[in-house]
Amino acid sequence: MSDQESKLYPPPAQIVAGAHVSGMAAYDKLCAEAEADYEGFWARLARELVTWKQPFTKVLNASNAPFYKWFEDGTLNVSYNCLDRNVERGLGDKVAIIFEADNGQVTRVTYRELLERTCRLANALKAQGVKKGDRVVIYMPMSVEGVVAMQACARIGATHSVVFGGFSAQSLRDRIQDAGAVMVLTADEQVRGGKQLPLKAIVDEALGLGGCETIRKVIVYRRTGGNVAFDPARDAWLHEVTQNQPATCEPEWVEAEHPLFLLYTSGSTGKPKGVQHSTGGYLLHAALTTKWTFDLKDNDIFWCTADIGWVTGHTYITYGPLALGGTEIVFEGVPTFPDAGRFWRMIQDHKVTIFYTAPTAIRSLIKAAESNEAVHPKRYDLSSLRILGSVGEPINPAAWEWYHANVGGGRCPIVDTFWQTETGGHMITPLPGATPLVPGSCTLPFPGIQAAIVDETGNDVPNGQGGILVVKKPWPSMIRTIWGDPERFKKSYYPPELKGYYLAGDGAIRDARTGYFTITGRIDDVLNVSGHRMGTMEIESALVSCTELVAEAAVVGRPDDTTGEAICAFVVLKRPRPTGEEAKKIAAELRNWVGKEIGPIAKPKDIRFGDNLPKTRSGKIMRRLLRSIAKGEAITQDTSTLENPAILEQLSQAN
Ligand code: WT7
Repeated sequence: MSDQESKLYPPPAQIVAGAHVSGMAAYDKLCAEAEADYEGFWARLARELVTWKQPFTKVLNASNAPFYKWFEDGTLNVSYNCLDRNVERGLGDKVAIIFEADNGQVTRVTYRELLERTCRLANALKAQGVKKGDRVVIYMPMSVEGVVAMQACARIGATHSVVFGGFSAQSLRDRIQDAGAVMVLTADEQVRGGKQLPLKAIVDEALGLGGCETIRKVIVYRRTGGNVAFDPARDAWLHEVTQNQPATCEPEWVEAEHPLFLLYTSGSTGKPKGVQHSTGGYLLHAALTTKWTFDLKDNDIFWCTADIGWVTGHTYITYGPLALGGTEIVFEGVPTFPDAGRFWRMIQDHKVTIFYTAPTAIRSLIKAAESNEAVHPKRYDLSSLRILGSVGEPINPAAWEWYHANVGGGRCPIVDTFWQTETGGHMITPLPGATPLVPGSCTLPFPGIQAAIVDETGNDVPNGQGGILVVKKPWPSMIRTIWGDPERFKKSYYPPELKGYYLAGDGAIRDARTGYFTITGRIDDVLNVSGHRMGTMEIESALVSCTELVAEAAVVGRPDDTTGEAICAFVVLKRPRPTGEEAKKIAAELRNWVGKEIGPIAKPKDIRFGDNLPKTRSGKIMRRLLRSIAKGEAITQDTSTLENPAILEQLSQAN
């Protein structure tokens, strides 16, 4: 028996019975169907799950690979599929969204109301001159309005680009500028953990930085009523621009390949890249994965705790659950306010049946529960739960076991879903009514996804041996290009040595016996901190842009018990190396600097100062040595190419 087989958790009988994919034989059958007729498989599902205005006749067009096209002669509208279609099916009075505000106030929105609000805003956007293909930046809090904003863009064929509310003015400016957006939708403020945080003021600052001349209008949702500056020529209140608009709006029927959204994410080099997603293929996978991975049924209460500023919020809040006519929770706040029992109390109060969150949240709630009995999940009635999910980073087996036992009461399968901003939806994941689970493994590819592990030349490696994670065939919800930079798209995801396979950027290994995948982490200079993706180069650029202080900086990740990885920066100042209190003071200054440049999530946890950085004779920074130092490990690697060995001692001691 392999190590993995000894820890298998078979799917519980009550989940298998009636599951959309029931039993391993059903999973195997779907995989075999895709194997036998790849295009036929996706075409069948695209007809079953998506309502088309003009049905497609072509499935996959690979003539300009890797710029693949799916269902290209079909037309559709995503907001029609998520809203009108459900009302037409008789779900108009069904609750689509249960919104819980930071302060605990609950609002319910039915499908009919959501459709009407979306139409009003869609009409208002049109009245402001927003047209099909225009880019609209959404910088909004977790709110019904945020979902409505995305749906309204989809309704009129505008391409949205949501920017997470934790990003700084500078990051927001860069994204507005790169996207060439014509409008920003924002709020006066957001409320998180009892605190009011500015949004509109950051938009003002971003636009004031210059380079955003394409922006014609800023529409502001009044969330708190806080005081904000208002430029009557440019700014307008959401409630004012929508109040006289009709509650119906003919959807703009767009081609399947029309860009539904851009979402900026970090790469290993350069500025964040605008990942471009399609309409038809994306919607198909959003709906299909919500159905199969979460086994979503009509009476489920689904809760994905992600923010709409990340891809998880796009696919598993704004699009997937609504496309299926589900009922979902949208939560404004944070897991630790008013106390670390918030998630458990909300599951109890709303009778949540499917709960999808990130390992970093689980780990911090484990810590909280261990130090305060009152916020332990066993103090709450979580019996409504039937399926749990995990996303964003590897979940360590200990956290998995705790989640399974204490939140799921030992009866709920955990779907550990591996995917990326670029993949649009789940790629490797258990199906809850089929796949036996192994803690720490994302198990097997979603049916139709040709995930594999190869070496640097694209050849398969045997199970039990680690390698590079690739996807051998294109799939409907894949990234279409990097906005404005098709060359970077090709270079990043389809390097010539990999035989035309999609390069995920992660390492992985398959178990020798079960064939299950375990993700071993990024193989490039991308960090994953609390499930947030960050390029080391971005943080380095932010540090060195503090030209008064910083001469040079190198950033690496180190393992962290709560956040998965933590950011560790090695900095050479333009003044003598500080120590003691002075070092602490400058480190705090630099942390705030990075917070202003990128956003609080990019603030380094550790900053160490040195007279220099470890470099080879040709001047290349030896990051692997910095990684060891950051971890506090003894240096066992070969340091013979190092020009300045004494620096290692200094950096190891500095703190
Ligand atoms: C990177 C993608 C997936 C949406 C949220 C993050 C890591 C993601 C898992 C998982 C191990 C995971 C990978 C991936 N990752 N899910 N279940 N197990 N690693 O999207 O910001 O585009 O980050 O997150 O390293 O490449 P993202």
